[in-house]
Amino acid sequence: MTCIPDTSLSVENKRSTDKRGSRACDMATLPIGVFDSGIGGLTVLKMLLDAFPAESFLYFGDLGRSPYGSKAADTVRRYAVQITDFLLKKGVKMIVIACNTASAVAGDDVRNRAHPIPVIEVVRCGAKMALEMIPEEHRKSARIGILGTDTTVKSDVYVNRIHELALKNGLTQPDIRQQACPLFVPLVEEGWWKGEVTEKVAENYLGAMKSFDPHVVILGCTHFPLLADPIARALPEGTALTDCAPAVVDEVRSILINRGWNAADVNVAVEESNRTKTVFYCSDTSDTFRRQAERFLDMPIEFVHHVDLETCED
Ligand code: DGL
Repeated sequence: MTCIPDTSLSVENKRSTDKRGSRACDMATLPIGVFDSGIGGLTVLKMLLDAFPAESFLYFGDLGRSPYGSKAADTVRRYAVQITDFLLKKGVKMIVIACNTASAVAGDDVRNRAHPIPVIEVVRCGAKMALEMIPEEHRKSARIGILGTDTTVKSDVYVNRIHELALKNGLTQPDIRQQACPLFVPLVEEGWWKGEVTEKVAENYLGAMKSFDPHVVILGCTHFPLLADPIARALPEGTALTDCAPAVVDEVRSILINRGWNAADVNVAVEESNRTKTVFYCSDTSDTFRRQAERFLDMPIEFVHHVDLETCED
């Protein structure tokens, strides 16, 4: 079966093709929408690009309004819903909230808005992975650390999710300690992924976490995997760090398979690299996003579309 991709069609138009019995094929040709407040979500996008060479992606970085982590929950909710509307208008088959802060406070809003388009969010993936990563011998007295933005930590979303999951799976409730690390976000956006200042900031934030001596630490902000080395150095040796991206990849894979939406199955332009097919949108005109994204994804990005979400014009 071969489909001709037409990403200019909206989801509504795609739905109407159901009647002609070609919905799964049509859906397979659509891109996957991924969003974050800035470049942090690229840590998720990078793994998606590696895992799904036939898929195409739309990435939205809300750099003009970041950081999300120090904003009120209502504000982040409004931003996340605007981005969802934008991605739906572009025509995506799935939305990945590659931002813990948006997942924490707007996961349900995004899901309701996007329905029936499936939404995957990083918090559920991260909590699940953290529980799985607890070494067998510590299962009865596990200690989990959570690092995130102020908004994520205040929402207690990870604590609640871990408790729910542990209960559901008959596991002993782990001891949990949270630490907000807001300065990590601008350090990442500026490209200060290592160096003296970053090491010092990490040591400063993680002193109490080090004494807690966690078995697993959740990198509960998609910016933080970029600082994995300085973070690991500031924690006791051997502390396992959880990056939610591999669990996101698993969820995306199971949706693609279960719904028959795999682009590879309908021979969508597999000869063209998904890296060249990825379209980037940013709510800021600054060149920073493009430079850091090129550096992190290790690929040239010719163009980043500027989008003003308040007016939704690009
Ligand atoms: N990368 C985001 C997160 O996962 C948000 C960082 C921010 O904008 O404060 O929480």
